[in-house]
Amino acid sequence: MNVFVAGGAGYIGSHTVRLLLEAGHEVTVYDNLSEGHASSVPVARLVRGDLADLDTLTAAMRAKPYDAAMHFAANCYVGESVTEPQKYYVNNVSNALNLLRAMRAADVGKIVFSSTAATYGTPVATPITESHPQQPINPYGRTKLMFEQALADYSRAYGIGYAALRYFNAAGAAPDGTLGEDHDPETHLIPLVLYAAMGKRDQVSIFGTDYDTPDGTCVRDYIHIYDLAQAHILALEAMRPGDRRTYNLGNGSGYSVREVIDTAAKVTGREIPHNEAPRRPGDPAVLVASSEKIVRELGWKPRFPHLESIIETAWRWHREHPDGYGD
Ligand code: UFG
Repeated sequence: MNVFVAGGAGYIGSHTVRLLLEAGHEVTVYDNLSEGHASSVPVARLVRGDLADLDTLTAAMRAKPYDAAMHFAANCYVGESVTEPQKYYVNNVSNALNLLRAMRAADVGKIVFSSTAATYGTPVATPITESHPQQPINPYGRTKLMFEQALADYSRAYGIGYAALRYFNAAGAAPDGTLGEDHDPETHLIPLVLYAAMGKRDQVSIFGTDYDTPDGTCVRDYIHIYDLAQAHILALEAMRPGDRRTYNLGNGSGYSVREVIDTAAKVTGREIPHNEAPRRPGDPAVLVASSEKIVRELGWKPRFPHLESIIETAWRWHREHPDGYGD
């Protein structure tokens, strides 16, 4: 297939682009490089552009006969979405709708969308299945849910097919050490723990030790970036016009913040300096996915289901690229 990948130079996009190419698909990456890294994708496949720029976007999408789009081009920090909601509504909703407009103009009938566990809000049942109520508790989750709803309406009215993939906690790096996580600022737990192991940060803070969990710290479901990327390929290849699919993506196992720190200490053979800090606003105590649906319907089979192997690949990336992509 010929695939138009918006935001393909970011962390999840770049890993997916690599797997798309390995699976024999044609790829064009459309990215404004505000958070992505040019060197994370093949240079000949990169078109620099913004979703806000509808003319450039539509021209790029009309340049080739695309079979499908993938949409990774969003802002994704929960905390920032609370203090700067406008950025999230403009980019994750308004600019994202331009992608749907361009798809209609260019007659592209399928899309795989990066959604999130944050659309569920505070869980009322665990593990979370796709039919769990969606009551997001922050602007990030609300903007992602709005786009899911737009997809459903576009599908009913115009017949587009879509798969909304609701990610839990993406982590890890390409097993060969050539692609990895490089956010600025970095807010995610696993890279921050590894920065503390490397001495790039003095220590990592544990946000909250009084949650109703076995050791008092938050529990999350970490999914390897390779397995997450693979799910996009499966969703793309299975999709038919008019499909409305949603899939959770996690491993179904929860690890606490303390367990992440202990596992990282084991993997790196280093001490992880840490301190205890107050809760971070907006963090649910436990988020664990049921990914049974994608296993059953698409045959998804994670290659790195264990936290240790997720951290091992991340550790290789950070050790070999202490300054990330260096841009
Ligand atoms: N944490 C710490 N210290 C840190 C960073 C994080 O204790 O320095 C804790 C958090 O409080 C949380 C856990 O580690 O309990 C994981 O935090 P991350 O920031 O790594 O990930 P989140 O669970 O907050 O966020 C992930 C995705 C978001 C998505 C969200 C859905 O990264 O994009 O899940 O809830 F929106």
